[in-house]
Amino acid sequence: MGLLDGKVAFVTGAARGQGRSHARRLAEEGADIIAIDACATQDWLSYELGSEADLAQTVKEVEALGRRIIARRADVRDLDAMRAVLDEAVPALGGRLDIVCANAAIISQAMPTWEMDLEQWRELIDVNLTGVFVTVKAAIPAMIAAGNGGTIALTSSGAALISGPGLADYKAAKTALLSLTRTLACELAEHFIRVNAICPTAVDTPMIQNEALYHVFRPDLENPGRDDVKAGFQTMNLLPIPWVDPVDVSNAIVWLACDAARYITGITLPVDAGNQLK
Ligand SMILES: NC(=O)c1ccc[n+]([C@@H]2O[C@H](COP(=O)([O-])OP(=O)(O)OC[C@H]3O[C@@H](n4cnc5c(N)ncnc54)[C@H](O)[C@@H]3O)[C@@H](O)[C@H]2O)c1
Repeated sequence: MGLLDGKVAFVTGAARGQGRSHARRLAEEGADIIAIDACATQDWLSYELGSEADLAQTVKEVEALGRRIIARRADVRDLDAMRAVLDEAVPALGGRLDIVCANAAIISQAMPTWEMDLEQWRELIDVNLTGVFVTVKAAIPAMIAAGNGGTIALTSSGAALISGPGLADYKAAKTALLSLTRTLACELAEHFIRVNAICPTAVDTPMIQNEALYHVFRPDLENPGRDDVKAGFQTMNLLPIPWVDPVDVSNAIVWLACDAARYITGITLPVDAGNQLK
C-alpha cells in the first residue's frame, strides 16, 4: 500500500535532478507519472540542462518500480505542446490528474542587476515564471474535470525568502511564484485542489554541481570540484550540511500530495536546513 496509490502525477523538468527524484518518489508511493522535459540547453547558460538520455533514464527508473510513465519532450513555455502531452497522457492513465509538480527551471550567473542582458532576463522569466503559469494553465482543467481534487506544488526557492546581491532574475521569478501559489490556492479551494510552494535551500543537482558555479565559489582554485565548494555552501545553512538531497524535496511533495496534508493549502514550505535563519 502506497500513500498515493491510484493517483496520477505530472512532473515538469523530469529528466534529472529533483524532477526525476519526484517522479521516482511519487511512483514509489503508487502514482503513475506524466513526465516532460525540454531536453535542450540555451546557449547562454553556464551549465548543460537535461538530455533525452536523462529523460529515458527517468522512464527506466519509474518502470522499475512497477508504475506507468508517459514521458515526452516538451518545453514548459509551449502551451500547445504541454496541452498535447496532457491530452494524450491523462486519458491513457485512466482520466485523472491528481498531482502537479511545476519543477522545471533554469538559473543564470550572479552579476549586478543593471549588467544583466535583457534577452537573457526575458528568457529566464519566461521559463521560471511563465513556464509555471503555462504548466498550471494546461493541467488545471483536467484536474477539475476529473473531480478528485488534488495537489499542485510550485517549486520556488530559498532564494525567494532571503536577501542578497545577484540572481535578480531568478529571485524575481521565484518570489512571483509565491504570489501565484496563493492566488491559485484561493481560486482552486472549492475544487479541493490544494496549491503550495516549496522553497529548497541548495539541492545536490547539476543546477549547482557544475564547473561554472564551482568557479564562482572558489575563484582561487584552477580546477575546483564538488569537495572544494562544500564549506561555502554550508555557510548558507543552519544545519551543518552543504546541500539537501533531491529526495528531501520529493518527500515534502509526497507529504503535500497525500491525505496527511489534506487541509494544507496556500503555504510556503521551506526545505532548507534552517537557511532562512542564517
Ligand atoms: N538545485 C538547487 O540548489 C535548487 C535550490 C532551490 C530551488 N531549486 C529549484 O528546483 C527545481 C529543480 O531544479 P534542479 O535542482 O533539479 O535542477 P536541474 O537543472 O538538475 O533540473 C531542471 C530540469 O528542468 C529542465 N528544464 C529547464 N528548462 C526547461 C523548460 N523550458 N521546459 C522543460 N524543462 C526544462 C532541465 O532540462 C532539467 O532537466 C527548479 O525549479 C529550481 O529552480 C533548485
